Amino acid sequence: MAYECILAEKDGEVGVLTLNRPEALNAFSDQLMDEVTDALKKFDADDDIGCIVLMGSEKAFAAGADIKEMASKSYIDVYSEDFITKNWEEATRVRKPIIAAVAGYALGGGCELALMCDFIIAADNAKFAQPEITIGAMPGAGGTQRLARFIGKSKAMDMCLTGRMMDAQEAERCGLVSRIVPKGELRAEAIKVARQIADFSRPIAMLTKEAVNRAYETTLSEGVRFERRVFHSVFALEDQKEGMTAFIEKRKPSFKNR
Ligand code: CAA
Repeated sequence: MAYECILAEKDGEVGVLTLNRPEALNAFSDQLMDEVTDALKKFDADDDIGCIVLMGSEKAFAAGADIKEMASKSYIDVYSEDFITKNWEEATRVRKPIIAAVAGYALGGGCELALMCDFIIAADNAKFAQPEITIGAMPGAGGTQRLARFIGKSKAMDMCLTGRMMDAQEAERCGLVSRIVPKGELRAEAIKVARQIADFSRPIAMLTKEAVNRAYETTLSEGVRFERRVFHSVFALEDQKEGMTAFIEKRKPSFKNR
């Protein structure tokens, strides 16, 4: 598939996917989301890739669903095509870690896509919002659900009911983003963090991601049981032996991803 709305590049073991539809501030047209889905699937299946970075431009990570494409749809249109489920949720199915590197606007579906990634590194100019209510709609790609789980009911209600923008500092304070970096350094920093993850044992990073995500799907006691079983399974990996032996021998481990 030739891409027109995104760039997909490899930087060593890091897959970098850049939303690239500047004329619409990376608003999610069907084509853009089809391309994102295709690129994520390819990176996930690529043995050379250990971690993925998903980013936009310095002005906009993404301004949400394409309002011009969406405005005239009827109920039966959106119901029949299961609008946005079709090609919007690939990020939640990817098994390798995905970092959202957010600069500028992350609005509506843009904020929701960032929330589907494993964690968010924000530039100091990042702005998050669920402004759907201001255009006669409501969040439809997890905004009312993931946002409430990540930042709590009060802030999520505030954002979804007023449509206000949250800046990077507030987003970090309330746990929406994991770290803030100067906007000119976002790409380099995100790739550096992704490379650090990619250098660890790949199966262990994937198991860890699966276990953390389980915390959002199950009870505490079930989640802890799941974590214990996954933890036990790590001892079947050569990488566990290598990691612990390297510590004892005071050298850097050399993980083989098995
Ligand atoms: N859809 C389609 N086009 C969009 C867009 C969107 N979501 N956001 C911006 N654009 C387009 C603008 O129409 C404009 O195009 P033209 O030059 O052809 O007029 C271009 O991008 C630049 O935008 P602005 O001129 O508006 O730029 P600005 O700097 O003045 O403002 C902004 C930037 C605050 C992000 C503003 O564009 C804006 O408010 N955008 C809409 C944000 C929004 O409401 N997003 C939610 C969408 S609904 C959704 O996502 C549903 C869901 O949950 C699934």
